[in-house]
Amino acid sequence: MPGTKPYYITTPIYYVNDRPHVGSCYTTLLADCAARFMRAAGRPTYFLTGTDEHGQKVEKSAAAKGVTPKQLADENADHFKAAFDFLHCTHDHFIRTTDAAHEAQVQEALRRLIKSGDVYLGTFEGWYDEGQEEYVTDNQAREKDYKAFNGQPLIKAKEENYYFRLSAFQKRLEEFFDKNLDFVRPEGRRNEVLGRLKMGLQDVPVSRTNFSWGIPFPKDIDPTGKHVTYVWIDALFNYITALNLLAPPNARDESANPVAANFWPAQIHAIGKEILWFHAVIWPALLMALNLPTPHCVYAHSFWIREGRKMSKSLGNFIDLETIHAYCDTYSVDAWRWFMLTQGPIEATDADFSHAKFIEVYNADLANGIGNAASRVLNMIEKYFGGSVPESRGLNDHADHDWPALAKAALDAATHGMNRFDLAGALSAGMFLSKRVDAYIVATEPFRMAKDPTRMPEVGSVLYNCAEALRLAATLLSCAMPSKMADVLQRFGQAPISDHARDEQRESRGQASLPLSELCQWGRLKPGTRVTKGESLFPRADPAASPPSSTSLVPDP
Ligand code: MSP
Repeated sequence: MPGTKPYYITTPIYYVNDRPHVGSCYTTLLADCAARFMRAAGRPTYFLTGTDEHGQKVEKSAAAKGVTPKQLADENADHFKAAFDFLHCTHDHFIRTTDAAHEAQVQEALRRLIKSGDVYLGTFEGWYDEGQEEYVTDNQAREKDYKAFNGQPLIKAKEENYYFRLSAFQKRLEEFFDKNLDFVRPEGRRNEVLGRLKMGLQDVPVSRTNFSWGIPFPKDIDPTGKHVTYVWIDALFNYITALNLLAPPNARDESANPVAANFWPAQIHAIGKEILWFHAVIWPALLMALNLPTPHCVYAHSFWIREGRKMSKSLGNFIDLETIHAYCDTYSVDAWRWFMLTQGPIEATDADFSHAKFIEVYNADLANGIGNAASRVLNMIEKYFGGSVPESRGLNDHADHDWPALAKAALDAATHGMNRFDLAGALSAGMFLSKRVDAYIVATEPFRMAKDPTRMPEVGSVLYNCAEALRLAATLLSCAMPSKMADVLQRFGQAPISDHARDEQRESRGQASLPLSELCQWGRLKPGTRVTKGESLFPRADPAASPPSSTSLVPDP
């Protein structure tokens, strides 16, 4: 069956020396929206997020705060979990790189790589970006004027380390890119990677010796105990250790999903543009060295900026968790999700977060859009048919409102968009149905027809079509706005779209709901279904009101 191909989607695992902010929440929301849609479509889905807890940066931040790295990691991993729960994310697993199962599997990967000769002991001297914890090539260092990503000077570092023989994969990677045109998306990002790949690959360190907060090299390889795993190598492996792919059968974590291994290779690694090289080049080469399949697509989105300026701690203009909470409290979590998902930097250009734009989109799409359409239709069903969905007699079928065809086109467009990870495009298909309801009401004027009692069957037909179109719109938009769309569906007497997240919820929910292809069949809404008007779904926002102010929810570290 076409809908049953497994869908594994991941986010970067986030550094625990920082709190969640708009960036980390953005990537996780993208993955959540896609995962919800795929589950609803009936595909076995696995959505992974988590935290990257090792490395010098974490060690230093912890020391500065007078806590151990593990304490800092525990505290901030909890903040990430709380933030993603608050935003109604439905990840199937939250991995932490300090999990024993992850650590053991990374050591196993190192053993295999040493055995195959892909990892060796050597000496290296080069330019090091301390903030990003990565070496840059001599060329890049020159191009960047010897400045790190954060503007600090690059450091000349020399180390005896274990290295991954990346240079040996030059040809295989070039062939791989030739064959897999969609491996890196969007297109512009792929070209960036190809440009850099052409300049030639250097071997990369997989161990570090100047600090200790990392996964130790296995004792059988490094009896000195000096080497800890380079944080980036440790981190990349999370995508397969979460599925227990490197665990010997007897060491498998029993609590882990037993079918998880079937999800590899990942359909999408959703990441930000600044970490593309690791995912697009080093990661597939590591997998090739381990004889494991490569992921289908690394999708690198761009960055949120704020009111036209780059966000930074020094400018104090970061959209932090407190700001996100304030927006969600004022306009609803789903309104925040909608803005993030439809206006975000998913393509190759950065997107600006401005309050004015937020209000404009909120009013246009939600308050005056689907919220208003639902309330008009529910009011009329209440007023003219006593709150019971009328029958459609097939009257008033305007050629430009061929509803069954519109419904099919919307489902097809949404599915096509989601398969391409074009979330904004996919979501516009649902919103389009709601806009067509408005246009249909304007064209047919049911409130005018209702003045003539002989035309009530026509009024009924029009309202049936409106209600059915809104049921479908809410169904297709549930992946973006799960609570509000569940509310719309409930008002039309329908069950919400199940999110099938996490095992315990899945069990307690019992029965699986129908797949989207069936739910979106035109005409499923039964005449006679009771509807309820309810409160305003998205009260109009005043563009003149000042932005919601953030009250500090979490104490400063
Ligand atoms: N730990 C590494 C990733 C390892 S993945 C194997 C890391 N962590 S991070 O905490 O710095 O998170 C980086 C990610 O946060 C980016 O790739 C992106 O997903 C997100 N964002 C951070 N700032 C962002 C914006 N301003 N805008 C959008 N997303 C950005 O790198």
